[in-house]
Amino acid sequence: MTRLRVACVGTGFIAGQHLRALSEMADVQIVAVADTQPERAEEVATRYEARSYADGATLLATEELDAVWLCVPPFAHGALEAAAIARGLPFFVEKPLALDLPTAQGIADQLAGTGLTTAVGYHWRHLDVVERAVELLAGTPAQLVTGYWWDKTPRVPWWPRRAYSGGQVIEQTTHIFDLARHLAGEIDTVTAAERAAPDGGEDVPTAASSLLRFASGAVGSISSARVLAGRHRVALHVVADGLVLEVSERGLTDHELRVGTEHGAEVLRSEQDPITAEDLEFVDVLLGRAARTRVPYEEALRSHALACAADRSAREWTPVHRGEGGWQ
Ligand SMILES: NC(=O)c1ccc[n+]([C@@H]2O[C@H](COP(=O)([O-])OP(=O)(O)OC[C@H]3O[C@@H](n4cnc5c(N)ncnc54)[C@H](O)[C@@H]3O)[C@@H](O)[C@H]2O)c1
Repeated sequence: MTRLRVACVGTGFIAGQHLRALSEMADVQIVAVADTQPERAEEVATRYEARSYADGATLLATEELDAVWLCVPPFAHGALEAAAIARGLPFFVEKPLALDLPTAQGIADQLAGTGLTTAVGYHWRHLDVVERAVELLAGTPAQLVTGYWWDKTPRVPWWPRRAYSGGQVIEQTTHIFDLARHLAGEIDTVTAAERAAPDGGEDVPTAASSLLRFASGAVGSISSARVLAGRHRVALHVVADGLVLEVSERGLTDHELRVGTEHGAEVLRSEQDPITAEDLEFVDVLLGRAARTRVPYEEALRSHALACAADRSAREWTPVHRGEGGWQ
């Protein structure tokens, strides 16, 4: 059997989830990993009998590969994707695509016309409960959309600084913006505000809120807060004619869809592993067993651009509009 030779750049939390999933696939061989913390890379390489590198550029210049997973923090995007594209290497990349829009747009420009297979870690799209929500809304379009990411501040060192993470809206709440687009269609205008962090080393706002106008005429709002002791609510509500839906996430493998109709309320629990599902889909496309990935780079770029528009609207305290050529 042909085994795909894969590598992973970044060996932190989410890389661990992907590497575990990949290591359980008989047709995949993890050949190399890289991390700017070499001891991390070495430990992970030992676990998977792979080679270790202290930087992704050297790994990409050295190894014979069929695909690479890019699981680095937001500030580290740009050169790694450029190196993969230059050698014609398919890549899976974690969200957010970058700290900002120009970096991600630049990568999309390099990808245009290459036909390279890409996939992005907007894993909610792989959930059965999200597929069910899409079905329920098919004949009854959304009128009101309300989303939340109310949580603690993640403990990774790069997160509380905008220059490294992009901030909560771009780094975390992007999942909710993506789901809003997926369930209710494109958004035309976003107007947002944020509550600044207190003076000190951290500059990611402690809370933010955005008001959305959808192309369909629907309206919505999405809020973010990072000052709790733990996750309180990571969810999206959708209200349609005679129908209310709530999709929520308590953990990477713990999701729920609540459906309210004139017949009462129904709760659908999902214990699917969407990380394994998205990795399997990418592998299936590379091995010719599936036609396409459901979130290629250019689709993820639309969600990233929306989150960046919400972030910019809050910083500049002005509405931001999506025109013919994208977010203005
Ligand atoms: N899909 C999801 O739900 C989900 C969940 C968690 C994290 N993520 C995303 O994954 C990314 C990483 O998050 P994490 O929680 O794994 O962070 P992490 O800090 O645990 O791991 C990141 C690793 O990347 C390494 N690194 C930094 N710059 C590098 C570079 N230039 N080359 C190689 N390695 C480099 C760091 O040393 C660290 O080990 C973030 O963008 C985050 O948003 C997605």
